[in-house]
Amino acid sequence: MRTQVGIIGGGPAGLLLSQILHRNGVESVVLERRSREYVLGRIRAGVLEWGSVEVLRNAGVGERLDREGRIHDGSRIAWAGRRQLFIDTRKYAGRPMVAYGQTQITEDLYAARDAMGGGVIDEAEEVTPHGVDTGAPWLTWRKDDREHRVDCDFIAGCDGFHGVSRQVIPPTVLSTREKVYPFGWLGILSRTPPLDDIVYAAHDRGFALASQRSPALSRYYVQCSLDDRLESWPDERFWEELKARFPGEIAERIVTGPSIEKSIAPLRSFVAEPMRHERLFLAGDAAHIVPPTGAKGLNLAISDVHYLSRALIEFYATGSARYLDEYSDTALGRVWGAARFSWWLTMLLHRFPGQTAFDRRMQEAELDYIASSEHARRVMCEQYAGLPFE
Ligand code: APR
Ligand code: PHB
Repeated sequence: MRTQVGIIGGGPAGLLLSQILHRNGVESVVLERRSREYVLGRIRAGVLEWGSVEVLRNAGVGERLDREGRIHDGSRIAWAGRRQLFIDTRKYAGRPMVAYGQTQITEDLYAARDAMGGGVIDEAEEVTPHGVDTGAPWLTWRKDDREHRVDCDFIAGCDGFHGVSRQVIPPTVLSTREKVYPFGWLGILSRTPPLDDIVYAAHDRGFALASQRSPALSRYYVQCSLDDRLESWPDERFWEELKARFPGEIAERIVTGPSIEKSIAPLRSFVAEPMRHERLFLAGDAAHIVPPTGAKGLNLAISDVHYLSRALIEFYATGSARYLDEYSDTALGRVWGAARFSWWLTMLLHRFPGQTAFDRRMQEAELDYIASSEHARRVMCEQYAGLPFE
């Protein structure tokens, strides 16, 4: 088998890349380790920057997003019984945000790939990239007890944080930077109508977040300890703790119900650079992880794919490697910007073990400052709305 771009990973990054390439006459094959049911069953992020919406629309997967995605002028932050702060991205950055689930985006991308006869091979085991530093790389995998091979011009590593792609970059070339936060997010999905707004709460009991996936589907989170187990969080305890962290007038509007998904996710910042080694290009979680605060992970995967698809399309159309050569630097500029913002928002809104009363007061003072200064709000909104594409 031969193709132009071999893509490892069929999450949003890999599927979107193959979709954009296909629409521009570039062939690819996507190799995904899991079954399609498994990939579509994962509950992940849910807030899109306007720039991401435009990339998805231009990729021909904007129809349901435009119909079902919920447009928000911004999000709300509540803390210490103060007047709430509205992060008004429409007013200060000229762009709204859109609530639409990563699960739905993945469904839309699979449907689009199927409609175009796109090659997505699932349940591909032991996917291995070879010869990335030769002019002719190839991929091997096992499926149905047989060995398979595809030769390609380039390999795109879109296989998430635990993937194989990053591992083939020699340690002398790759540098990684990481911060692990001393808590996790316990999240639930429930078939209940969400609040009108996405609301962040910074409370002495810990951080909480009210979010949404559709008019009938809510997503809520509470900061939890890394030792917490799901068994110790029955639904009743979750709802009680969630409500205790929001101001009364918000808590009383939260509609509770049985959870249909519940999980604990640790928080981590991680960036690997460069994002290219010879004929291997990394995109999405394969190259970087941000803590979920601010919802930048999925948006970064989309912006990486935007830059990488542009580079590959230009290469095949004109022979110019200009964008391929710039890919790592261009993508990393945006990645570090989002990494900084996600870190800052995480530090601002969570309770940290060992934090003193003074440290807490400094977080409140910073929130008070943002609420009272239009300059500070503008700075925050510019980043929350998403830095512009180069
Ligand atoms: N071989 C083939 N596929 C693999 C391998 C492997 N060795 N390892 C991982 N995969 C697959 C995973 O099963 C997954 O479906 O790669 C895919 C990676 O998808 P994601 O983890 O969703 O990453 P990405 O596409 O970069 O999307 C980023 O996901 O975690 C969120 O916050 C993140 O929202 C962001 C988005
Ligand atoms: C989510 O809905 O999962 C979500 C929303 C906003 C965030 C983070 C996560 O900042």
